[in-house]
Amino acid sequence: MERVNRKTVGEDEIRRQKEYMAQIASMWEEMGKAPLCYVETLGCQQNENDSQRILGMLREMGYQSTTEPIGADIIIFNTCAVRENAEKKMFGRLGTLKPYKEEHPDVLIVVCGCMSQQEHIAKRISETYRQVDILMGTHNTYRLPEYMADVFEHRQNIRDIENTDGYIVEGLPVCRDPKSGSAWVSIMYGCNNFCSYCVVPYVRGRERSREVEEILSECRSLVASGVKEITLLGQNVNSYGNDRDGLPSFPELLRLVSDIEGLERIRFMSSHPKDISDELLDVMAERPNICRSLHLPVQSGSDRVLKEMNRRYTKEAYLAIIRKAREKMPNIAFTTDIIVGFPTETNEDFAETLDLLKTVRYDMIFSFIYSKREGTPAANMPFALSKEEIQKNFEAMLKVQEQISEENSKRFLGTVQKVLVESVSKQNDKRLSARTESNKLVNFEGDDSLIGQMIDVKITKTGPWHLTGEQIAE
Ligand code: 5AD
Ligand code: SF4
Repeated sequence: MERVNRKTVGEDEIRRQKEYMAQIASMWEEMGKAPLCYVETLGCQQNENDSQRILGMLREMGYQSTTEPIGADIIIFNTCAVRENAEKKMFGRLGTLKPYKEEHPDVLIVVCGCMSQQEHIAKRISETYRQVDILMGTHNTYRLPEYMADVFEHRQNIRDIENTDGYIVEGLPVCRDPKSGSAWVSIMYGCNNFCSYCVVPYVRGRERSREVEEILSECRSLVASGVKEITLLGQNVNSYGNDRDGLPSFPELLRLVSDIEGLERIRFMSSHPKDISDELLDVMAERPNICRSLHLPVQSGSDRVLKEMNRRYTKEAYLAIIRKAREKMPNIAFTTDIIVGFPTETNEDFAETLDLLKTVRYDMIFSFIYSKREGTPAANMPFALSKEEIQKNFEAMLKVQEQISEENSKRFLGTVQKVLVESVSKQNDKRLSARTESNKLVNFEGDDSLIGQMIDVKITKTGPWHLTGEQIAE
């Protein structure tokens, strides 16, 4: 197969892919069949965002979505490599599909995303998972139509995990939930930070920022289609613009996005603490449509562990950012990511993390037990604690945080919150789920015509993970 070796994907290449899309759409039309697609996404919002592009392309090729792999004409797994659990789950799913593929050889199975970008995984899939028709990495998702056409024509497996620093692709169709009032917009791809435990820089390539006009025009068209909240996405949004001359800094970009008329809420994630500037905090304080909510992954509260993680800040420097942000915005809400059981972490180090949680008092934490990632520096470090001790620390941390989250939530009791209604509640289909500015989940009774709207809700009950409220008549 011909390899296109370019850094930026030009209009010609997009046109070429669109021709394949049209070719596949007419193939199905001639067969008189409405094909079904199943796309399963593991991992972070970046992957969700990529899946929306995959679905956008499939839609153009005539496919309709289905919620079950069985019965679909194409089954796509957009995979995650950040932790081992997601990988195990993936191999399990592929194993279960083997007999199905044998009975239905015409069904296409595709594996893409971060997991397939790792050489040892790609090798394992190529050697043992022959049921996978197309294996592609994170850098060439846009070539899916071409790969599909190739399989339809030649009936041979495709393995293309080209390793590059990655492309920027513009102009592909995107399929978003039409009812939802919120959307994600990627502003940059890749990561340059090489935290010692993390596989992302190896599977997503170096940082590359999108053109400011591409970002703004995507945001504008989302707002024109009824979107009220946009989350700007990147592995480290604060380094937006650093990879090329002529681009604005992240705070400048935020100002430009915040100027878009009709855009009621802006969020962004993730931020690396080493890159948080005063200017960023000033923009957040100055603009009412930028949510006063900051996801600031700390990973550990121990300076020694932070150093071994290659995070490039100390606990004190991190706490100084929190203090400064609170001075400028007394009601700002913080969330974070924590890794428990980093190889060299001792019980004393872990105690520092607990101490940090108690000092910052996050609204919520996303906590993970360290997972060894092949090829990263931490994979060669010796463990200070046993698996049991790590598990015990992990559980102790959840307990501490549950109490903090519960106490923090009480500040909402009896208040009226402006919320964006997201969906029908997953727990109770008579209720709706919505989000406050601080990103807290609120459940309340209401009609599903409210989905996508901003409304006022009075908070009647609080708990650590979500609030309960009632809609206030307009
Ligand atoms: N093990 C456990 N958690 C990890 N994360 C990243 N790499 C690993 C790993 N090897 C967590 C970090 C990051 C979040 C997205 O995933 O906390 O912020
Ligand atoms: Fe991984 Fe660190 Fe980059 Fe985040 S900043 S993606 S944790 S290397």
